[in-house]
Amino acid sequence: MNKNVVPFFEPGLQELVVDAIKNKRLSFTANVANAIVQGDILFIAVDTPSAEDGHANLSALYKVVDTIAKNINNYKIIVIKSTVPLTTNKLIEQYLLSKGIDHGLFDIVSNPEFLREGSAVYDFFNPDRVIIGSNNKTSSNFIANLYKPLKNGTVPVVITDTTSAEMIKYASNAFLASKISFINEIANLCDIVKADIITVADGMGLDARITRHFLMPGPGFGGSCFPKDSRELLSTASDYNVPLEVVKGSLIANERQQHIAIQKLKNLLGADLKDKTICILGLSFKANTDDIRYSPAIKTIELLQKESAVINAYDPAAIENMIKIFPTINYYHSAQAATKNSDAILILTEWKEFKDIDWQSVYTNVKQPYIIDMRNILDPTQCQEQGFIYNGIGRFHPVVN
Ligand code: UGA
Repeated sequence: MNKNVVPFFEPGLQELVVDAIKNKRLSFTANVANAIVQGDILFIAVDTPSAEDGHANLSALYKVVDTIAKNINNYKIIVIKSTVPLTTNKLIEQYLLSKGIDHGLFDIVSNPEFLREGSAVYDFFNPDRVIIGSNNKTSSNFIANLYKPLKNGTVPVVITDTTSAEMIKYASNAFLASKISFINEIANLCDIVKADIITVADGMGLDARITRHFLMPGPGFGGSCFPKDSRELLSTASDYNVPLEVVKGSLIANERQQHIAIQKLKNLLGADLKDKTICILGLSFKANTDDIRYSPAIKTIELLQKESAVINAYDPAAIENMIKIFPTINYYHSAQAATKNSDAILILTEWKEFKDIDWQSVYTNVKQPYIIDMRNILDPTQCQEQGFIYNGIGRFHPVVN
């Protein structure tokens, strides 16, 4: 990164990093001890992936905390940015005390992050809120001040205790995930009763208590956050014998959602998908990222492989990552090339470039003209005019006389 290279795809980040390095406001080091000694505020932003039992794996976090314990030389504010299970901030404080670190040497501040991959830079500079949890008022105010320049100081700041701050993060992610599972199930029902999910979501979204955000149905939520954080919250609640049926239901619905695309394929092509060529457009868990963690495309490819289908795949950014999991499926360097001779085209990620494909010329090269648009990004009428048999998710166009 010191060589001005951001090793993953995130719009706008490379430019930002290069600019900051050039202006000597940013540098990277592998010498953690040195960084700790020099820093006044230490942000811990390591990965906390899901362990087998659904709990978050905190080994990376504690490795950093151990290094802090070994190297702390004067007062530090230790800010936990990583998404950590309820009460972790308190446990870290106790852990440092148990290592003989004087309480006068540190304060712990929980400061969860709410940015989304794919729009991380925009989200960072334009947060809806800043959450700060600490049992020390001075530290809370100090960290709150760091965010003052954002949106000219208009960002609402919630100052609270550490466990409430942790809960805000988990409850927000689990709530948004449930909202998606909810709209996915309603979309599936729309498919059966012939109602249009886009109009339904628009109509629902006009209610200021609901809003239109996160009401886009799809192949199921993925990414490194919603599945993992919902599971972690569920595991913690179960440790305390507290039922979280809504969160559990949202995860069950999400697992099921990942089978919908295959069902749709079978409805169109017949129950036997053996040797049928399925073109998958979109491998990342959402658009504008190369991240494939918990991407619905993974499950879809596994299911198609079980059916012995032939898989042609294209993604503008995520092919390199997907090759590591599925080295033997056919990858193409353009959507156009991937669609050639396909029995069905399956859109799994809402990349904008899929809207701009020359669909008319795609039509002339496919074996069968089926499009299953699991993100509802194409115009059904236009697809039909071009000769395709279009199948979105929960889409219906009533003929109104
Ligand atoms: C999510 C949260 O939105 C962020 O606020 C949070 O900071 C982040 O997790 C995190 O905890 O680090 P992210 O996973 O990057 O962000 O992406 P989202 O835009 O939330 O999408 C998550 C999944 O939900 C994707 O698979 C996306 O396609 C799906 N989704 C989203 C839908 O299917 N429908 C929607 O309407 C919205």
